[in-house]
Amino acid sequence: MRRAVCPGSFDPITNGHLDIIERASKLYDVVHVAVAINKSKQGLFTVEERIALIEETTAKYGNIVVESHAGLLVDFCRDRGIPAIIKGLRAVSDFDYELQMAQMNHGLTGVETLFVPTSPTWSFLSSSLVKEVASYGGDVSHLLPELVNRRLVERIAERRG
Ligand code: PNS
Repeated sequence: MRRAVCPGSFDPITNGHLDIIERASKLYDVVHVAVAINKSKQGLFTVEERIALIEETTAKYGNIVVESHAGLLVDFCRDRGIPAIIKGLRAVSDFDYELQMAQMNHGLTGVETLFVPTSPTWSFLSSSLVKEVASYGGDVSHLLPELVNRRLVERIAERRG
């Protein structure tokens, strides 16, 4: 089985993430989606909720395994026999940090990082921006799967009380 991992925070998953996961799913037998547990960053959705949203929106691809991970991504890869990390690049501004991480990860265990250019349709898109716009009542329904948009609107309303 040829395996790859798409890592991220996915708070929540957007159409930009789905674009990369779908394309990875066509290149590999199994694509692991690794949801990072970041104790220092309070998310809008819990890790369990993010996993459920990813599972529901990627089920159609048929070869996606969604898991959380708390430690180093290279350990996640080593434990599962995953030789490749897939990262979407939206713009040159992503490149500096992504290159650093790719070189660090390769130096640690030899794991490769493959960069996929994000579809221009989603090149401006990030979970943080989506949350900010939605929190002020802006419509982000064209940027998210329908289910995710629904849960996002609900969550923001809950937070407002
Ligand atoms: O969606 P994000 O927040 O840009 O994702 C970043 C993420 C989670 C992919 C990256 O920070 C990560 O893999 N963290 C796990 C910890 C780790 O391996 N750190 C060293 C990176 S060189």
